[in-house]
Parts: sequence; C-alpha cells; structure tokens
Amino acid sequence: MTVSHVQERSQHGGRSDLRESVEQARHSGVTTGPASMVIFGITGDLSRKKLIPAIYDLEHGGHLSPDFDVLGLTRDASTVESRLREAVIAHARAPFDPEVWGRLCRRIHFIQGSFDDPASFTALSSRLAELDVLRDKPANYVFYLSIPPWAFERVCEGLADVGLNQQVDGWRRIVVEKPFGHDLASSQVLEATLERAFDPSAIYRIDHYLGKETVQNILALRFTNGIFEPLWNSRYVDHVQITMAESVGVTGRGAYYDGVGATRDVIQNHLLQLLALIAMDRPATFEADNIAAEKSKVLAAATLLGPLEETTARGQYTGAVRDGVVLPGLTEEDGFPADSTTETFAALTVGVDTPRWEGVPFYVRTGKRLARRSTEIAVAFTAPDRGGPATRTAPVQNVLVFRVQPDDGIELQIGAKRPGDGMTIDPISLDSDFGAVFAPAPTAYERLICDVLRGDDTLFPRRAEIESSWRLVDPVLDFWAGAGRPDGYEAGSEGPASAAAIMTRAGRMWRPL
Ligand code: BG6
Repeated sequence: MTVSHVQERSQHGGRSDLRESVEQARHSGVTTGPASMVIFGITGDLSRKKLIPAIYDLEHGGHLSPDFDVLGLTRDASTVESRLREAVIAHARAPFDPEVWGRLCRRIHFIQGSFDDPASFTALSSRLAELDVLRDKPANYVFYLSIPPWAFERVCEGLADVGLNQQVDGWRRIVVEKPFGHDLASSQVLEATLERAFDPSAIYRIDHYLGKETVQNILALRFTNGIFEPLWNSRYVDHVQITMAESVGVTGRGAYYDGVGATRDVIQNHLLQLLALIAMDRPATFEADNIAAEKSKVLAAATLLGPLEETTARGQYTGAVRDGVVLPGLTEEDGFPADSTTETFAALTVGVDTPRWEGVPFYVRTGKRLARRSTEIAVAFTAPDRGGPATRTAPVQNVLVFRVQPDDGIELQIGAKRPGDGMTIDPISLDSDFGAVFAPAPTAYERLICDVLRGDDTLFPRRAEIESSWRLVDPVLDFWAGAGRPDGYEAGSEGPASAAAIMTRAGRMWRPL
C-alpha cells in the first residue's frame, strides 16, 4: 500500500441484454479495464464492510485489471492498512489469501488530507496523474462517495475545482449511496449538486438490492418463462406482498437511523425498486435505458391507496426477552432519545394506476427486530371462477414467491389432493432453492462495482425513479409526522397489530414471517 482503451459509455447508456446480464453476474471471465477508484470515506463503515471486501473478492476472482488502483483520502494513514485487512478477513466472501491481499494492497494508495481542504484535491489530482503515467493508462476515474450526503457538495466542488469532473483522456463516473435525500425537495437539491459537476450519465446511484442475484432474477423469471406473463395482471393477480423483515435492530446506528426510519431507509429505495421490477411492462429491449423507462413508468403511476389511517402502519420495537436473550427496545439503544418517534416498522398499501394493475393492492412492509430475517415478493393469484372438485379443508391460494433472502429461490404454492379416500385438497409447494442449483453468487457490491467500472448502469436507479419514489412516500411521512408516536411491537414479533389490521380490513392476511 502506498501514501486500453478509454471505456466510454456508448450513446445509449449502459447496456447489456438480459442474457449478457445474467452471464456477467456469474463473472465468467469478466475483467474490468484500467481505472482508478477514489473512495471518499475509505475508513468508514460501508467501505470496511462492503466496498473493500467486494474489491478484494473481485481481485480474488481475477476480475480486476492489474491497472486498477484504489485511492483514499484520510487524515491518518498509519493504521488504515491493518484496518482494511481486518475488514477483508471479516467480510469478504473469498477466504483470505495473503498473496491476493498483497497484490491488491500495492494498488491501494492514501492521500493524507480531508475533503474540507482544497489542497487535498490538488494532491489527489497529482497522484491520479502519476499513477496514469506509471501504468501508462487512460485517466478513467470513479469517485465513490461513501460519505454523508451533507459532504457531497464539498466533494463535488473540490473535484470540479481541480478539473477532475471533466472527461479528459478518459471517463469520469461518480457513485453515490442512499439516502438520496430526506424527501423529494432535498433529493432534488442533492441531484442538482451532483449535476452541477457531473454529466447525468456519469452519476451512478447505488441501491444494493438491485445488485442481488435474486432481484436480477425477477426479470429473468418473468420474461423468459412464457407461463407468467399472461397471468401478470389484475384479471389473475389478487394482490402482491413485498416484505423485507430483519431480525437485527439498529444497535450502533442511532446517528444515521434516528429521524430517518424504516420508510426512508428501505421502502423509498429497495422495496419500491422491487415493486417496479414486479409491476413493469416488458421493455422493448433489455437495455438499460429501456428497463429504466419501464420502471419509471410504474413508479410514476404508483399511488397510495387510502385512507392512510387504515392502509398504512408504523411501529417501533419495544424490549422483549426471546429464548432467554434480552432484546432492547429502540429507545433503550444508544443514540435514540426516550421520545424518539422514528419508525422501525412500516407498512403501506400501494396501487399502480395502469390498466394492467387496476384495483390490485401492493402491500409493502419492512421492519427491524422482527421474528425472522426474510425478504420476499409474493404474488397471490385470484381463486378460479368455479370451485374445484372438493370442499377445501383449508383455503388454497396460488402464490408465487420470489425469495430474495435468505435461501434465495422461487416457490409456487398450489392445491393438491391429499392421498386416500375422498377429495380433500391440501396446499403444497413447488420449491426451488437457487443455492442448491447454482454456484455461489457474487455479492451485490461485487456486481455493482464491476458494472460501474464497465459503464453499465442497468442496475442503478435513475433520478426520475428516485423522485417518483419520494413523491409516493412523502405524504405518508407527513401524515405520520402529525400523528404522535409509532405503535409499539415486541422485539422478535411479527410487527405491530396495526399492520395486521390493514390486512384484516381487506379480508387478507400477511404471509407469516
Ligand atoms: C440498508 C439499510 O440499505 O440495507 C439497512 O440501510 C438494512 O438498514 C440493509 O439493514 C439490509 O441490507 P441486506 O443486504 O442485509 O438485506
């Protein structure tokens, strides 16, 4: 560690058809080109837990060019190397190999400084140029903002002051992580800041859910299997449930999470992206621009089905003892005041105002410290017009479940005759576990970092999608802001009673976690 060709994104934006995309996800022999990635916030949580381990995994798999360098701005470089090494040991997918780490480490460079100091940007610019000369490589730079949004402006200005935002002798890309603002207005300010310095096509917004294999699989399953599309509409779909349940709490994340809450943290981005992928029409081609256009249409057509006091719920976990383990309530966690109104659970009822989805509710829920970790999308079909050959012992509803995690796979629930006398129908499940069928998948960050380096923005939400998502959730957040404290729910439970009530009113039930 020390203190080819220019890959331009072609006119049509990042591109790859669906098949290519799936191939790339397996990283079969994919190597990225020469580039330097500058990570702002290289010693932060995200960098240590996700970025550096993913870069190590890419190096381990032979997917990085020998002319790929990482640069980090840091006030004190003395202990960073050992901290990053520990992070790789703890968080990388591949086993730790000192030789691979050594190879990577020689291409990680530190600039002593901080993004508050204009001189640091001059030093950064010189170091990048030096590396280009040393390796005889084009000036292809990725600027990865793994820093709080309030610092974006300073960094963009710092880069622009030394001309690092200009595409000269190479490409320039900037990567930002959510939260993309706090509401629609602040997200527009943030976008304007980025666009003052960078061309809109150079801005990559990370929503790591889109990098997950099973999420990419939604389009593959929907559009490469002829049996689904004819049923994918209000005639045959009764409703859709999108669930992201976590068993972990927000221990240690008070500084970020208090005042943000579950809706801004994951519904505005991850879960509405899942909804868009489930509800979108087939794009003209599976190129980035066309996929983005179809997702944007869904998000622009998304509406809140009301009245909000009956169709939404929010909760905050309270302390409980589960299996002898004491689980603290949110307000007992460090960094959360006793009167915190931050929701750790949220559920919304969303409609998609298009002829295809007329009258079909999309129930979206997420929560921390729930009974189980489970992210899934369940498409529940309508019952047949005429009854089956038997009186059912239990109602059977055909449900197609995309299991995102854990145990990613796909499951179809159907009714079948129980063996023996008479005609009794039982629900059974056709289930495929992708872990048993396919080789281990790259992590979301491996995939997304590779795509940034290749200039493929298929898996990155566009500004219009983000703004439509804020337009949808802002009124719920405003409604809750004037409605006192969230409902309590016990840590380790299925969520607040108000969430169950949404479904009871509609004559439906949440799938058990
Ligand atoms: C992040 C949220 O975006 O996603 C976290 O900020 C959440 O609150 C995390 O825990 C979940 O990601 P994953 O990949 O573990 O499902």
